[in-house]
Amino acid sequence: MSNQPVAGIILAAGQGTRMKSDMPKVLHQVCDLPMVEHVARALRGAGVDRIVIVVGHGGEEVQAQLGDDYEYAWQHDRLGTGHAVQMAAPLLAEFSGKVIVTAGDTPLVSSAMFADLIAGGNASTKCLIASSIVDNPTGYGRIVREGMAVVGIVEERDATPEQREIQEVNSSIYCFDGRALLECLPKLKNDNAQGEYYLTDIAAMLAAQGATDAMVFNDPDILLGVNDRWQLAQADRKMRERILQRHAESGVTIMDPGTTYIGAEVEIGADTVLEPSTMIVGKTQIGVACRIGPFTRIEDCQIGDHAKVYVSYLREAKLHETAKVGPFAHIRPGSELYPDVKVGNFVETKNARLATGAKASHLTYIGDADIGENANIGAGTITCNYDGFQKSRTVIGRDVFVGSNSTLVAPLSLGDGSFVAAGSVVTSGSYPADGLVVGRSRTEVKEQWAAQWRNKKSKNGQ
Ligand code: UD1
Ligand code: CA
Repeated sequence: MSNQPVAGIILAAGQGTRMKSDMPKVLHQVCDLPMVEHVARALRGAGVDRIVIVVGHGGEEVQAQLGDDYEYAWQHDRLGTGHAVQMAAPLLAEFSGKVIVTAGDTPLVSSAMFADLIAGGNASTKCLIASSIVDNPTGYGRIVREGMAVVGIVEERDATPEQREIQEVNSSIYCFDGRALLECLPKLKNDNAQGEYYLTDIAAMLAAQGATDAMVFNDPDILLGVNDRWQLAQADRKMRERILQRHAESGVTIMDPGTTYIGAEVEIGADTVLEPSTMIVGKTQIGVACRIGPFTRIEDCQIGDHAKVYVSYLREAKLHETAKVGPFAHIRPGSELYPDVKVGNFVETKNARLATGAKASHLTYIGDADIGENANIGAGTITCNYDGFQKSRTVIGRDVFVGSNSTLVAPLSLGDGSFVAAGSVVTSGSYPADGLVVGRSRTEVKEQWAAQWRNKKSKNGQ
């Protein structure tokens, strides 16, 4: 029994009217991942190898975002949870094993919970319901028991006043025997208060064979379905706290959990310190003993060990170990900063490689450029990489010194060890190693000119 394959069905056809959104409900994100993807990952983590997502409203969008790691079933008319599972049934016609059914809008479900459900029940169980005992059961299907035995689930609207008192409710997460589920599905009827095909009716069908049971989970999160944006915010907050706790437990210092936001896919090494108001999202990886923040946003970056990022915005960039960024830097896609690089305040880099030890400490734009080892880029240096039609590259050799306020017109290369005089406009071309490049007029002095000028002005004034 225990080594059977397990499939999952995620119900995600609902429109989510209360979200007030053009986007399908299950694509709304919790900690940087669509809700339905959290559910799918939790299933995968519990060893569920095949996952069928039942889509309806906005299904193409769901399919396009989640891709072909999953199978999709279409439910065009929303005729109830039982009908939704019927739509998935053809895909599992040949499947024999356990089938988990769960909803795409309860993002806080965990792998541990699914694993417990899969391992639960006994040899004769064909429908194991994940239930929960709550103070206020309003709105939920109630688990009806006779003695200890579960005899069925009754929906709020179909329940008698006595049944409405029952505090054990249906989370809408089930583990079925796949064959039994497929046999029962065609027998569902819609003779209930909502005129829907209820998946919950299968519990009663299998209870008649003594094959239904409920496993009580003491975990309010399995009931946290998201129907509106405020519930989305609550789910996000809870998920955020879980993620922060996981990183803290693996050795990351989080100075202010209240203002730190880490996406679900982010990896962070031990002894890294996150200062307040820091947001790290996407497929970002951060090494050990880094110092990040405060007031920093990092998206889809790789950051090496012992790097430092202060008050900056980084996206699709790579920092090698010991690189140092900020405060107030903008590190844009395609930037690669090698060890000991320093990028300081009001510096923007894009599609640029800064080799080991290179420095751009202040007020600079480096775009489409290669900067050699230990080159020093003076304050106010600009690479003019764009002529309005195309981008061109700037190549700066090792140990080059670019004087402040230089304008480097690409395509351009500066040989190793060359020196650009401050304030130069360096036009396109290839400049030799170790030379002095001067692209400005020399300073001229007219002795006593200022004194004479003031003298003349003050006489005219009288
Ligand atoms: C369902 C359960 C109820 C349980 C509650 C927990 C039934 C009949 N009732 O009620 O016992 O306590 O969940 O939240 O199953 N969906 C589809 N297609 C449909 C209908 C629903 O994909 O035709 C999806 C929804 O998008 C949602 C999930 O199924 O993700 C549950 O549907 P919902 O309408 O919220 O069910 P409830 O009436 O709340
Ligand atoms: Ca619901």
